[in-house]
Amino acid sequence: MNADSTTTELLDLLAESREYTKYFGELGVETIALSNDRVASESSIASRAAASSGTDVPRKLPVRLELPQPALRPPAADVAKSASPGSLFGELAAPQTTFAQSTERLEDVWRDIGDCTRCGLCEGRTQVVNTFGNQKARLMFVGEAPGADEDAQGRPFVGRAGQLLTKIIEAIGLKREDVIIGNVNRCRPPGNRQPTLEEAAICRPFLFREIAAVKPDVIVVMGNTAVRNLLEVREGITRVRGKFQDFRGIKVMPTFHPAYLLRDPSKKRETWEDLKKVRDYLDNLPPGTHEP
Ligand code: URA
Ligand code: URA
Repeated sequence: MNADSTTTELLDLLAESREYTKYFGELGVETIALSNDRVASESSIASRAAASSGTDVPRKLPVRLELPQPALRPPAADVAKSASPGSLFGELAAPQTTFAQSTERLEDVWRDIGDCTRCGLCEGRTQVVNTFGNQKARLMFVGEAPGADEDAQGRPFVGRAGQLLTKIIEAIGLKREDVIIGNVNRCRPPGNRQPTLEEAAICRPFLFREIAAVKPDVIVVMGNTAVRNLLEVREGITRVRGKFQDFRGIKVMPTFHPAYLLRDPSKKRETWEDLKKVRDYLDNLPPGTHEP
């Protein structure tokens, strides 16, 4: 191997491990057990990654993870054997990070959130609006942040946009009780402004933990802000909508936000096309695919 290819490989490994640590940090994972049983301490890679990215990582998850080491990865059988029963993830296939086995319940996540003051949005809110719905849902919807009605009632999507969302859900043959609905941010921003990138980054780890707990087959992400803040993509909704994305092993369908459809009803047709793809995908999954 020449010097150039060694450097390239090292840079790739570095980039890959950065991805991992960022992801684990966002999930609130503190202790990472390496496959060869070296256990990272409190000052784990995840905490350090979180510190350097300036995000406030929830530090409550007593989980142990098997972290595959890309260059020295043991055969798959060894990894499976060494995965502890209580680990958040069983086997992780590098380099693709996935939402796999979580032993948390949504109530655990909500308890950690508590009467949250991790960002400035807490100052203007009436209450925290947590994800709400069927904990065994195969389909999840994610919006941007609560509005006035949500702030008053403590439930996501209960205002006008929410009523339209109910119709969208029913249009694909489901009921609201079948699905689960949340937002990237849980506190109403003053004057309904967009949450900032920082506010989204502080709140997002809780949504990730909820996703890991529910393990929906599909997540519909609605509107520009939610798509940007959840998927961390730069393209606008008009470009990415209607195309399934893979987000850490879960299918994601970006589509327009119902509030936008209220302003421009002509876009409902495209939303309907996007949701039909979701319905067809769910209808064609083999039985037993969804194991809550
Ligand atoms: N808009 C959102 O993005 N979320 C809600 O919960 C309500 C309106
Ligand atoms: N802009 C948004 O913020 N959301 C949409 O759904 C469409 C345009």
